[in-house]
Amino acid sequence: MVPWPRRAAPSSLPGPGSPEAWARRATASQTEPGLLRLDVPPEQGESATVNWQDYESEGVQAIAGSATAEELDAARVQYLGRKGDLAQALRGVRDRESGMLLNGVRSRLEAAIAERREAIEREELETLYADRSFDVTLPGEEFRRGRLHLLTQIKREIEDIFLGMGYEVYEGDEVTDTWHNFDALTTDHGHPSRSPSDTFYFSDDVLLRTHTSPDQIRLMESRQPPIYAISPGRVYRRDTPDATHSPTFLQVESLVVDRGITLADLKGAVLHFFRQLFGPEREVRMRTSYFPFTEPSVEFDVTCFLCNSEGCPVCKYSGWIEMGGAGWVDPEVFRNVGYDPEVWAGFAFGLGIERIAMLRHGLPDLRLFWDNDLRVLSQF
Ligand code: PHE
Repeated sequence: MVPWPRRAAPSSLPGPGSPEAWARRATASQTEPGLLRLDVPPEQGESATVNWQDYESEGVQAIAGSATAEELDAARVQYLGRKGDLAQALRGVRDRESGMLLNGVRSRLEAAIAERREAIEREELETLYADRSFDVTLPGEEFRRGRLHLLTQIKREIEDIFLGMGYEVYEGDEVTDTWHNFDALTTDHGHPSRSPSDTFYFSDDVLLRTHTSPDQIRLMESRQPPIYAISPGRVYRRDTPDATHSPTFLQVESLVVDRGITLADLKGAVLHFFRQLFGPEREVRMRTSYFPFTEPSVEFDVTCFLCNSEGCPVCKYSGWIEMGGAGWVDPEVFRNVGYDPEVWAGFAFGLGIERIAMLRHGLPDLRLFWDNDLRVLSQF
């Protein structure tokens, strides 16, 4: 059998590391079964042997005698630890016989420890139960469940509807530049939205986006058509908060670019979207309008889902609710991103997420979303 070196493990407990144990081993016969020779002596330079049967039974005794988890752990470190005799010996094993012998000792000691650990845990619990008395019928502590903010719920609902139509969901940047927010969208220098009194500027050409339309440009700059995408996100305007204005709110942009796209495709997409969102009876109408980056431009309304177009305060007795802006992508915008307007056509639209939430739930004031009053928010 192959000899292995041993390092003395300092220990205050009587055991294989103690002087008595070493004395015992040093006199044991080398032919005894379970006895292996150790080449390097513990302290004095004499050779020593370990009787693994003794080792095991000492270990088992120490384990059985441990009254607490700490004592058990000390026994484990001593008999199975990295610096213990067994681990050292296993490291030097070169033949099958010693390997089987030592592994047998190890697994029996491990089993003894697992068994003792379980017993100690059980004893500890039993003492705990005996010491204290519980009334198991007392009500537990209430666990307050969180929820998604109403606007996040609606944003996800919108994303789901468009994902169902095969659109991708794109996320643009809230901090953008004048190229993406204005110039590429052919918004000329005189346009009121470019004024610092309407828009938050970081510098002459870096700003917080005033709408999600710069995402149209980023989408087109980043790939070639066809594009079927929506881009929901936060936008910023220098408005004083009141019931219908907030310096920050959420929009969803939609952009489609493909061959042969017409305004009928726009109407079909918007109609499908509102029927999913507000019910299958909804109708959509378009009124001409103006946006710098669409030509022609429209604003679209949906039939009132609260009164079914009978007339109510929400639709101001008109039967229609204004929902957003849209249009056919201006060829100049395509040229700005390097698309050939002779080949590609597309539509875009944008709508406000807060508005959808307010209409759907009859909320009178935009500020309710940001006040963080749980009495309000926990209703949704
Ligand atoms: N970006 C426009 C706004 O914020 C809405 C819009 C988007 C209009 C897309 C047309 C096309 O008012």
